[in-house]
Amino acid sequence: MKALVCEAYGSVDDLVYRDMPGPVPGPGEVLVAVKAIGVNFPDGLLVEGKYQARPECPFAPGSEISGEVIALGQGVDQFGIGDRVLSLTTSFGAYAEKIVLPVKVIHKIPASMSYETGAALLAATGTAHHGLRQRGQLKAGETLLVLGAAGGTGIAAVQIGKAIGARVIAACSTEEKLAFAKSQGADEGINYKTQDLKQAIKDLTNGQGVDVVYDPVGGDAFDVCSRSMAWNGRLLVVGFASGRIPELPVNLTLVKGYSVLGVFWGSFTIKQPEDHAANMRELFQWFEEGKVVPVVDKTYQLSDGIEAIKYVTGRNVMGKVIIKP
Ligand SMILES: NC(=O)c1ccc[n+]([C@@H]2O[C@H](COP(=O)([O-])OP(=O)(O)OC[C@H]3O[C@@H](n4cnc5c(N)ncnc54)[C@H](OP(=O)(O)O)[C@@H]3O)[C@@H](O)[C@H]2O)c1
Repeated sequence: MKALVCEAYGSVDDLVYRDMPGPVPGPGEVLVAVKAIGVNFPDGLLVEGKYQARPECPFAPGSEISGEVIALGQGVDQFGIGDRVLSLTTSFGAYAEKIVLPVKVIHKIPASMSYETGAALLAATGTAHHGLRQRGQLKAGETLLVLGAAGGTGIAAVQIGKAIGARVIAACSTEEKLAFAKSQGADEGINYKTQDLKQAIKDLTNGQGVDVVYDPVGGDAFDVCSRSMAWNGRLLVVGFASGRIPELPVNLTLVKGYSVLGVFWGSFTIKQPEDHAANMRELFQWFEEGKVVPVVDKTYQLSDGIEAIKYVTGRNVMGKVIIKP
């Protein structure tokens, strides 16, 4: 089978599109013909050796797929040949034509859902959902500020915030991204490149601050938000796409009476599998109701996977990028 392979840690440009041995499912596993691959910001970090995990080379990066079950390992009766599924991968390997997955991590996808949408629904949307539901405890009527709101997980947070019934403020770096976030339901927008973020939050919340901040960006925007929280607010630490992990003077949380909560969706799926399964059921329901529908910005061939990763890490993406083997 063809795969996009990291032969040695380094530049994304050095990934190689080549043949790899086809995998064979063991007991409790299935073989999936990959139909769509979700591209995520950390895919680039992984290849550069800047991610917390460092799989042994050579390996195919990528952590989420949708596809069709084409072979069953011993003892598998929960899935059949031809089932349409989506899945997180357990140890990368998504950038390939086929992948073996343990049945416990796979979900069947609704008949009305395309493979592209399925691959786009998992990591970015699942993170936003877990962040806002389990960690942020977002409630209808509260104000939610989403940073990097046009990106993969940001736009999912906008849609999910609206599905929950919150007032959603999108913060982005360009007018085009803001317009996109508003097209997906954001009630208000802040251009944090051209506007003073602190003043804009004050103006939009009558000086009260925001109840929940969803922050996949970190850096300067986090610093501002840590001073713009409402009483009983929840500041969600999701990622550091800006490249800087901020530091927090903890006295701010005391004075303003808010909480800072880390969001790590991958660990959540392993440590709380039943809650994760319940979340997926809610996401599928919201999808059927048209409330949470991943937006695919661009689709690439697997042989052009380098361009796909660079499009995402280059701060261009609005929604999700998908690769089709
Ligand atoms: N904790 C978890 O479980 C979890 C799960 C998934 C993702 N994440 C993390 O969340 C972050 C965002 O992931 P994503 O898939 O949504 O990525 P994405 O689609 O590329 O979006 C990231 C957003 O960050 C903003 N940004 C600010 N400075 C940037 C910079 N220097 N380079 C690139 N983007 C920059 C951009 O918005 P503007 O241009 O509007 O500023 C961009 O839209 C990543 O750090 C990722 O590792 C965490």
